Amino acid sequence: MFETLNRQPDDPLLALIGLYRADARAGKVDLGVGVYRDEEGATPIFRAVKEAERRLVAGQATKSYVGPEGDPVFLERLWELTTGPSGRDRAVASLQTPGGSGALRLAADLMARMGVTRIWVGVPTWPNHPAIFKVAGLEVVSHPFFDVPSQSILFDEMMEALKTAEKGDAVLLHASCHNPTGAVLTADQWHALSTLIAERGLLPLIDSAYQGFGRGLEADRAGLCTVLDAVPEALLAISCSKNFGLYRERTGAVFAVTATGDIALSARSNLAALARTAYSMPPDHGAAIVSEILGDDVLKADWMAELDVMRGRVASIRQRLAAGLSRRWQVLTAVAEQEGMFSLLPLAEEDVLRLRAEHAIYMPGSARINIAGLKSAEVDAVVEKFLSL
Ligand SMILES: Cc1ncc(COP(=O)(O)O)c(C=O)c1O
Repeated sequence: MFETLNRQPDDPLLALIGLYRADARAGKVDLGVGVYRDEEGATPIFRAVKEAERRLVAGQATKSYVGPEGDPVFLERLWELTTGPSGRDRAVASLQTPGGSGALRLAADLMARMGVTRIWVGVPTWPNHPAIFKVAGLEVVSHPFFDVPSQSILFDEMMEALKTAEKGDAVLLHASCHNPTGAVLTADQWHALSTLIAERGLLPLIDSAYQGFGRGLEADRAGLCTVLDAVPEALLAISCSKNFGLYRERTGAVFAVTATGDIALSARSNLAALARTAYSMPPDHGAAIVSEILGDDVLKADWMAELDVMRGRVASIRQRLAAGLSRRWQVLTAVAEQEGMFSLLPLAEEDVLRLRAEHAIYMPGSARINIAGLKSAEVDAVVEKFLSL
């Protein structure tokens, strides 16, 4: 019967990893894959993660299941980190999930159960967003978000589009470090957007996958908090993959902010039932690490210090890249103002292919670059190769 299945296209980013690995040229540069890299090109394990793991191995007494909801202490600590004062005294249903992707999928399934039929998604966005929403049965409606040639946010166009959304529609927001554009909403824009969402009775789903990679842990949650302060209900999908470097441990959470505690209990029971029929119980190891770090002042300070170094490295390469590329493309001064690991360059696909073929510089056809893929020593040479296009 399997012959009835259509072959699915390879994920373009995963295919790019294969091409990069097979390239034997010295000095090849990978600006494709979306993970943090240090000056040696490695994706390091945080010192605090190593120490937390050491403690877990020494002290863990059982490998019995955690429940479908996961560990409540992890969830409380992550909630405080993600929302700070805006999250206190809110009724919230929390569930530990396999990564941010697992959180997005459960949020989408829950929305479908609640009778939400449409979700508004900015263009461009992370390609997995529409894919997850569609497989959960939601209709994905696009709205303008970012203009690549001018490197600017299409705020008025976005607001006009969202004014046509209907009460009960959901709207996807990136908390910080927008993937793929790095574009940053101002505080005023977050306020205007939150007011519109509240007035129109829309349900925000906020994806927070890079807290701490943009301007700092608190600054990166400011927009999310503005939304939470304005609305009675919201969904949050959190990933610990990047900011704790726990990618393969699949660590995240979904939070549903509800009007009352009773409703939160009901939302939580539905999330747990959805998890039970998908994967039953979440993986434990990554969440146990995060909980250990956030619950220990010394480990937490060390984790924050290391995260600061990562953010500083990405920001400094970002500045140099913007200065270099803007010699030819004036508009790319904007890259310096963008945040997080990604920017989306105004390059044609043939330029992307030429950079790959002639200079062993790898990025997807969309020209989304991961700035963390660059070592400081390479920046000037890579800029020259871009300028030679
Ligand atoms: C915008 C965004 N959301 C969510 C995720 C989910 O990450 P994970 O499932 O690895 O935790 C990612 C990962 O790249 C992302 O870029």
